[in-house]
Amino acid sequence: MIRICFVCLGNICRSPTAEGVMRRLLSEEGLANAVSVESAGTAAYHVGERPDPRSRAAAARRGVRVDGKARQFKARDFERFDYVVAMDRSNLGRLEELAPSAQAQAKLSLLRDHDPGSPPGSEVPDPYYGGERGFDEVLDICEAGCRGLLAHLRASHGL
Ligand code: 4NP
Repeated sequence: MIRICFVCLGNICRSPTAEGVMRRLLSEEGLANAVSVESAGTAAYHVGERPDPRSRAAAARRGVRVDGKARQFKARDFERFDYVVAMDRSNLGRLEELAPSAQAQAKLSLLRDHDPGSPPGSEVPDPYYGGERGFDEVLDICEAGCRGLLAHLRASHGL
């Protein structure tokens, strides 16, 4: 089993969206039993909350289920995951500070760096303080990034 954790700031918008998108993709491709997906936030503000209703609604319009309860990513989580995928450079930086070893550092990447159509270092913009359109944009970006990540998993793990 390959284990992935998507990480944003609050774990109520971007990373639960990436989690739902990736889970659907894996299920469509018959890989649901080969790869497990979770999400977390670097901050604790929203711990225990459901994903933002705007994220849930935008995803539901595309048949993607966004669910779960927000949790904070902890240093020991590096032991539980093979891939820790950050939504933006700020959260990647927080994860780099948290990583206890070079082995843990090597698990880190940016979601959009898996998308061949995005320039290196591209970010998933934070939709929290914006309008409805931002949530659709996050879904589009997550779909492209998750497709790229899946291609990487196929190539690296012979799936
Ligand atoms: P997320 O969005 O990191 O995509 O879950 C945010 C959610 C909450 C806040 C910021 C970003 N906040 O400042 O409360």
